[in-house]
Amino acid sequence: MTASMDAYWMPFTANRQFKKQPRLLAQAEGMFYRTPEGRPILDGVAGLWCVNAGHARPKIVQAIAEQAQEMDFAPPFQMAHPKAFELAQEVAKLAPEGMNKVFFTNSGSESVETALKMALAYHRARGEGHRTRLIGRERGYHGVNFGGMSVGGMVGNRKMFGTMLGGVDHIRHTHDPARNAFSVGQPAHGAEWADDLERLCGLHDASTIAAVIVEPVAGSTGVLIPPQGYLQRLREICDRHGILLIFDEVITGFGRTGAPFGAQRFGVTPDLMTVAKGLTNGAVPMGAVIAQQRIYDAFMAGPEHLIEFAHGYTYSAHPLACAAGLATLATYAEEGLLTRAATLEGYFAEQLHSLRDCPHVLDIRNIGLVGGIELASRAGAPALRAYDVFLGCFQQGLLIRTTGDTIALSPPLIIEREHIDQIVATLRQALTRVA
Ligand SMILES: Cc1ncc(COP(=O)(O)O)c(C=O)c1O
Repeated sequence: MTASMDAYWMPFTANRQFKKQPRLLAQAEGMFYRTPEGRPILDGVAGLWCVNAGHARPKIVQAIAEQAQEMDFAPPFQMAHPKAFELAQEVAKLAPEGMNKVFFTNSGSESVETALKMALAYHRARGEGHRTRLIGRERGYHGVNFGGMSVGGMVGNRKMFGTMLGGVDHIRHTHDPARNAFSVGQPAHGAEWADDLERLCGLHDASTIAAVIVEPVAGSTGVLIPPQGYLQRLREICDRHGILLIFDEVITGFGRTGAPFGAQRFGVTPDLMTVAKGLTNGAVPMGAVIAQQRIYDAFMAGPEHLIEFAHGYTYSAHPLACAAGLATLATYAEEGLLTRAATLEGYFAEQLHSLRDCPHVLDIRNIGLVGGIELASRAGAPALRAYDVFLGCFQQGLLIRTTGDTIALSPPLIIEREHIDQIVATLRQALTRVA
C-alpha cells in the first residue's frame, strides 16, 4: 500500500494499535477474503454479519453494474423508481404475515432511528401522544445514533456521549451463565426475565410507554440467545399494555437463524422490525423498517396532499441498493439460503461445543449459524485475551470477531462442513496457544 495511514480515522478501531500492525483485505470471493499479498482468509463472520450469500456473487455484481449504467440516482421524496416498489414487495413476501410495509434506510442505525420515530408518531396519530417512553434492554446494541445509543445497553458505547434521549429506560439482559452455560440452542432458563417489563410499567405507568426494542439474538454484546419462552412473554406483556414491540433484526434478518427472520425462527411477530446488512448481502449500504399494516394505516389519515411521516433519507431506496437487494433476494431464493442455517445448525453446534474443554472457555452459545465463545478475561486486561485469539486466527487464515472477551461467529450461509471444520480447528489452535 502506498498511501499513508494518517488521514483515515477508523471506526470502532483502536487506531494507534491498528496502524502499527495493520490487517488489510484486498479481495473476496465466496467464503474467502484475500490479503493484498494474496493470502486466503476464511470469512467466519460474513464480513460483519452481512455477506450472507458469500462474496462477489455474480448476480449481485452484475445487477449493481447494470444499475449504475441505467440510472445512478433518483430522488426518493415525492418521486420514485420501479425497483424500490419491487424490492419492498419482495421483502414483504419474506416477512411474517401482516408485516407488509417497508420503509428504506441506509444502515442498521438509521433503521433503528426510523423505527423509534415511527413508534412515537404512530401513537400520536392514534391520539395516544402520551406514550413517549422508549424501552431498550441492558447489553442491547441498536447502532450508534442518538436514539439507538439511548435504547442500547452497551456501556462502552454510551459513557462518552452525555445524557442521550430523555424518557428511556431498560429492562434487564438475559445473560444467565449460572443456569445456562453451554446451552445448545435456546437456553432453558430465563423466560421470566421478560417480566422486568412489568416492573417498568409499574414504575412509569404503561400508558407512558411507546415501544420496547430488543434484538431477538443479541449479537454485538456477545451473542446472547433468547431463553425459551422469553420473546413470547415479552410479546404478551406488550399486548397487555398497548406497547409496540420492535425486533432489531439487523443481524438475525435474512437467514442467520435458519428462517428468513428471527421472528419466524422464534415464533413471535413484532409490530416493527429493523433490518440492514443481509438485505443487500453487504454489497451496497441499505437498511429498512418493516411495519405491520395497521401501523402504516394509522398514518394514512388527514388530507391526502400532506406528507404522513416527515422522515426519510436522500439515499432511501437508492437505485444501486435496490438492484443489489433484488439480486440478493433472488440468490437467497435460488440457493435456499434463508433456511440453510437450520440444516447446518446441528453440525455447527456440535463442532463449536467441542471447544468446551479448550483453555479459558467459560461458555459456548449457538443458534442457526451464530456462535459465541465466552472466554475468561485476563486479570486487569479485559478483552485482550479474545483480541489475541483474533490475531492468532487471522495469522492462521481465519477472520473472526470479538466483543469484550467473547468470540462471535456468523459465517456466510453458503458455508460447507469443511469450512466449519477449518474454523473450529483454527480456533482450537489459537485458544490453546493464547496466554
Ligand atoms: C442489532 C443491530 N442493530 C443495529 C446495528 C447498526 O447497524 P449499522 O452498523 O449498519 O448502522 C447493528 C450493527 O451491527 C446491529 O447488530
